[in-house]
Amino acid sequence: MDSETRFLQVDANNIQRMRTLNSVLFPVHYSASFYRGLLLPGQFAQLAVYGNAYVGTIACRKQPLGFASGLPAAQQEGDMLEVYMMTLGVLAPYRRLGLGKQLLRHAIEYAAEDPMNDITRPLIRRTHIF
Ligand SMILES: CC(C)(COP(=O)(O)OP(=O)(O)OC[C@H]1O[C@@H](n2cnc3c(N)ncnc32)[C@H](O)[C@@H]1OP(=O)(O)O)[C@@H](O)C(=O)NCCC(=O)NCCS
Repeated sequence: MDSETRFLQVDANNIQRMRTLNSVLFPVHYSASFYRGLLLPGQFAQLAVYGNAYVGTIACRKQPLGFASGLPAAQQEGDMLEVYMMTLGVLAPYRRLGLGKQLLRHAIEYAAEDPMNDITRPLIRRTHIF
């Protein structure tokens, strides 16, 4: 499995792949502004490619620690960030092969290594479950 799987950062050239995948994976329609936001600083997304097939996606944003818990702004820890996972999906025929876990791992590694941020302990605090 590992040798056949690649993980790509979502950018302007491949974001349409993510839109297509998400339209199959989720009952929710994500707006054009959602996808525009993924290309801005503070958000990121990745694609899982199995062979030549695009089979999974993850989208995350970085935000002040405590934001996802609904804490008032004054109680959020603005100097620390958390990683909020907005979407995670793998096409049904490719599930239970470890791809979801690998997407999550790659996203956490990316969040920690991104030179544009100061995350030292990326945290996944909340997920959307449908
Ligand atoms: C959730 C989802 C991304 C998991 O992807 P996946 O590639 O099948 O996950 P993995 O194979 O990496 O499994 C990771 C772990 O979750 C467990 N798992 C995966 N699907 C499961 C299920 N339906 N029920 C129970 N456990 C499950 C696996 O056993 C594994 O646990 P382990 O490490 O202890 O063995 C996939 O089922 C999916 O796309 N679902 C529809 C979209 C969705 O609900 N996304 C989440 C909200 S945005």
